[in-house]
Amino acid sequence: MPTSTAFVPTDRSTRYIKQLVSHMGHKAAAEIAGDGRGTITLSRGACVLTPSGDHLEMIATAVDDEALATVQDVVTRHLLRFATQEELKVEWTAPAAGDALQIVDPVAGDYLLTHSTPADDLLNELVVRTREATGDASGMQISSDEGALLTMLVRMVGARNAVEVGVFTGYSSICIARGLPEDGRLLACDVSDEWTSIAREYWERAGVADRIELKIGPAIETLRALPSEPYIDIAFIDADKVNYPAYYEAIVQRLRPGGLVVLDNVFLGGRVFDPAFQEEHHRAVRGLNDLIVADDRVDSVMLPVRDGVTLARRR
Ligand SMILES: C[S@@+](CC[C@H](N)C(=O)[O-])C[C@H]1O[C@@H](n2cnc3c(N)ncnc32)[C@H](O)[C@@H]1O
Repeated sequence: MPTSTAFVPTDRSTRYIKQLVSHMGHKAAAEIAGDGRGTITLSRGACVLTPSGDHLEMIATAVDDEALATVQDVVTRHLLRFATQEELKVEWTAPAAGDALQIVDPVAGDYLLTHSTPADDLLNELVVRTREATGDASGMQISSDEGALLTMLVRMVGARNAVEVGVFTGYSSICIARGLPEDGRLLACDVSDEWTSIAREYWERAGVADRIELKIGPAIETLRALPSEPYIDIAFIDADKVNYPAYYEAIVQRLRPGGLVVLDNVFLGGRVFDPAFQEEHHRAVRGLNDLIVADDRVDSVMLPVRDGVTLARRR
């Protein structure tokens, strides 16, 4: 279904949405949701309007390109008519990212992979085993350069208490556990007995099983049951994206000063940059990315490593 988006700089987005919805409601289905978002539905397409402090975000969808042009035209004409106090600039563009966005050029990506500490034979074997055992789901596994980054970060913060949300077949847990001292502890959270049975096998073989405690169950329940004092040195979040904000909050409250939370997939394959993507997990990660950069409890940096990695360090 063709889609296009427009960001219109203005500090009157809420007022325009009300005016548009009220006016268009005479001729089409138009409504405002509790969060101020307006939806105008025409016969062959629709437009969702989202208010923001400094812009109006509009996403048009339609059954074909001709209908899309009609939706854009109808909404733009009416919006410009209501903007009597300012000159609005309305430019519609096709989704910028979608599925195809390459954050890092593949040649550069390969160069990064081959110029970071390589995975050892055991981790390489785990990659093959994961592919054989889980098929397409194996794409969830972190890459070797991310693994090297995790081990390095665990060592750099001198971590003894680590937490992982999203174990899968255990690649990242091995990388974290290897950075811990012998008396270090990794609490590893997942919901899958099946996938983590592979993890358990490889933790044994990596010689780190005695440092890892696996908790099977919704990670948010495990995290909220942890002691509330700030004792976590490092945490890695790589599970269901809808719950990222809840995981971040539960962890950041328990991070000791100087402790680090590492979040994977903060680009969502490029969908996070593209307002055309509005599913719950897109909104959750987009919202969390905005929240972290404004969170005065942490210093943060977002890295273009693979699908985007955020580091947030507790002040
Ligand atoms: C992207 S994979 C983790 C990949 C892993 N870090 C690695 O290096 O291979 C996401 C994992 O999160 C788990 N998961 C999904 N929803 C969860 C939840 N609500 N609580 C805990 N784990 C969850 C899945 O079972 C899956 O194993």
